[in-house]
Amino acid sequence: MSNIVVIGTQWGDEGKGKVVDFLSDKADIIVRFQGGHNAGHTLVINDKVFKLSLLPSGIIREDKVTVIGNGVVLDPWVLLKEIELVRSKGINITPNRLLIADNTPLILPYHSKLDQSREQATSNKIGTTGRGIGPAYEDKVGRRSIKVGDLADIDLLKQRLQVASEYHKFEVQTVLDKLLPIRDEVLQYVKSVAEWLNEQTNAGKNILFEGAQGSMLDVDFGTYPYVTSSNCLAGMASIGSGVPHNKIPYVVGITKAYTTRVGEGPMLTELTDDIGWHLAEVGKEKGTVTGRDRRCGWFDAVQVRKTCMLNGVTSIALMKIDVLDQLESIKICVDYIDDSPVYEEIPGWKTSTVGITSMEELPEQAKCYIQRIEELVQTSVGIVSTGPERDQTIMKKDTFF
Ligand code: IMP
Repeated sequence: MSNIVVIGTQWGDEGKGKVVDFLSDKADIIVRFQGGHNAGHTLVINDKVFKLSLLPSGIIREDKVTVIGNGVVLDPWVLLKEIELVRSKGINITPNRLLIADNTPLILPYHSKLDQSREQATSNKIGTTGRGIGPAYEDKVGRRSIKVGDLADIDLLKQRLQVASEYHKFEVQTVLDKLLPIRDEVLQYVKSVAEWLNEQTNAGKNILFEGAQGSMLDVDFGTYPYVTSSNCLAGMASIGSGVPHNKIPYVVGITKAYTTRVGEGPMLTELTDDIGWHLAEVGKEKGTVTGRDRRCGWFDAVQVRKTCMLNGVTSIALMKIDVLDQLESIKICVDYIDDSPVYEEIPGWKTSTVGITSMEELPEQAKCYIQRIEELVQTSVGIVSTGPERDQTIMKKDTFF
């Protein structure tokens, strides 16, 4: 293996957590590089379910080092809660296993308040997770963020809070009173991460960069303004960690075998009929973070072809193929005419693919479906997922990792 970035090619919730966990077996270090606790990564290991929203998925493997990079926005209280939660399931987390970049911006209470009040007040709802992600990124580019490393210097912290309060109109002392009790606990994980990561990669360690959200939620290339406030494309792995882009040669595009979306905004292949309900039910399509129902629809090959191009995807991991098992026929969107999808229809395979671990064992029609997707999105499928467990996975022989 070499350095790999794993990103979602649709609207998030493609199943990145499972693939990151699966691939992290061969990685030494797992890095999160954008987003915050708006991400929802579900991992199922030996019947134990881990729902992570902030910590890198690799945290549940005790022999791995995990990193929260500067491209993330960090709620320090959520961080500590999630550390406790993972510890309560018997996983050891120490400052040797979890490193946080000192230049990571904090999400503070005024960010989530603003996020929620804006969503309530506006006529143009985005359907955000209400976690303060957007306002925290605004502060980063507005040059009034508090960085996690600022916690080390109380005078500097006060100064920075003062600047932020001029904009957000909060009581500095109130926020300070909340931060001071957790300061030491958080600071033990804080480090100058970019230098460390570069030393590690130069020494031959394998780094896996774990994306959050999905390409269609990217603030530049997604369905703006119905997007998140960070860049979710593979290029962000470099900016959000300090590891140069030419040191990250592989891009795995996590792609659901159909389409889902949480929140508002266009979704051309959305199904509001029985098939949509069927996909939602069989695929258990409920948002990990907010518990909202996900909108479901057919696979959109036009969209995935574009996001494969934007990310430079070198291999697709096709997730949840088993959710399509019972369908009579399956549609793929191959074009748009006047913002309406044009479909190609193929017969369903109407037999279980759950738990299959080799391409040969897949029903012929499922193989045809995968092959057609490869042709349409002009990228090869290296992994096929046939269930939520780690071992319910097909790894194609010619896959590079
Ligand atoms: P925000 O990231 O909370 O600002 O929300 C902006 C949009 O991104 C909303 O439509 C959210 O539902 C969506 N979103 C944010 N994080 C995720 C995710 O991890 N999976 C899927 N959708 C997400």
